[in-house]
Amino acid sequence: MTLTPTRDDKFSFGLWTIGYNGTDPFGGPTREHLDVVEAVTKLSELGAYGLTFHDDDLFAFGSDDAARQTEIDRLKQALADTGLLIPMVTTNLFSAPVFKDGGFTSNDRQVRRFALRKVLRNIDLAAELGAKTFVMWGGREGAEYDAAKDVRSALERYREAVNLLGDYVTDKGYDIRFAIEPKPNEPRGDILLPTLGHALAFIESLERPELVGINPEVGHEQMAGLNFAAGIAQALYHGKLYHIDLNGQRGIKYDQDLVFGHGDLHNAFALVDLLENGGPNGGPSYDGPRHFDYKPSRTEDANGVWDSVSANMRTYLLLKERAAAFRADPEVQEALEAARVPELAQPTLNEGESYDDLLADRTAYEDFDPSVYLHGKGFGFVRLQQLATEHLLGAR
Ligand code: GCO
Ligand code: MN
Ligand code: MN
Repeated sequence: MTLTPTRDDKFSFGLWTIGYNGTDPFGGPTREHLDVVEAVTKLSELGAYGLTFHDDDLFAFGSDDAARQTEIDRLKQALADTGLLIPMVTTNLFSAPVFKDGGFTSNDRQVRRFALRKVLRNIDLAAELGAKTFVMWGGREGAEYDAAKDVRSALERYREAVNLLGDYVTDKGYDIRFAIEPKPNEPRGDILLPTLGHALAFIESLERPELVGINPEVGHEQMAGLNFAAGIAQALYHGKLYHIDLNGQRGIKYDQDLVFGHGDLHNAFALVDLLENGGPNGGPSYDGPRHFDYKPSRTEDANGVWDSVSANMRTYLLLKERAAAFRADPEVQEALEAARVPELAQPTLNEGESYDDLLADRTAYEDFDPSVYLHGKGFGFVRLQQLATEHLLGAR
């Protein structure tokens, strides 16, 4: 297996990720502005297949039509020159002061109407550029104070907004699906739809749920103390993994946006194994972009930015190679059997078995001896995890 990224790997990067200039709440920029043409050229050279962006990454908030068009044309030319794609587009409803209380769910109705117009305009651009996914990250959709936000009304306004967008892409005939990106907090004290589970429940309340899935981010679920790979498994189970944001995070703290794998490496291994080997017949379970939403640390210079781009892709490919070795190892296969992992795929009831049949089955209860589980019948999960660890460390 090659560790050199190719377009078939479907690696994509946000313009705001490589374009992050190092500003944080405590200090100003440490890097120059990154031009979109250079971004496209470099990503293409390094083996990525796609660039993603917010409207405001490409042209400054409040740009007039001519300035906006100039940047769109420059991007299109760079795409034509390199063959890079725009798989996903998103709208910035969080940076401008007007969105300080959110976009779709601001208490201020005028702001909500403005937010919808901004998104509709950007959906047209997404369609024009051939993007298939439109991400909605509602970083300012939330509150710091309980009395400040009527959460049920806010969810109703969120719903109203997403229903309208669904009508719009349907009427326009756009081949675009939406992906909601959950995050528990930051910048708001509490954000609406804080985890992927909340988002999955919300989606079922929509008028066109089939148009809406999720874009979970490694660090966001981990900020809530959750197991990312397990969450992705549930998203796949519901057919809702429409996009993914890969990065690294070390525990429950601010959103670190580290390079993929530079956090919980075990969970990154489990994730890549799931995405690459968790589908039908041991093939991939997800065929969308492998999208990196990280921030090159503010300590890095321009070279460090491109090194970190390569690091994301290389780590993914290394984990993919390690996961393949794990799956191919006969001892792992034997340990999986011993741990009875495949047995969970077997239905608990026999085909056509009713509760009366179950009640009549003495082997299920009267003749079953649960006490044997006290003295024996361990599952051997630790052995399995050690085998995974050894493959992850390259020791096998
Ligand atoms: C964050 C988010 C964003 C979104 C982006 C695309 O924590 O800042 O992850 O980077 O992914 O706005 O919607
Ligand atoms: Mn993030
Ligand atoms: Mn993200």
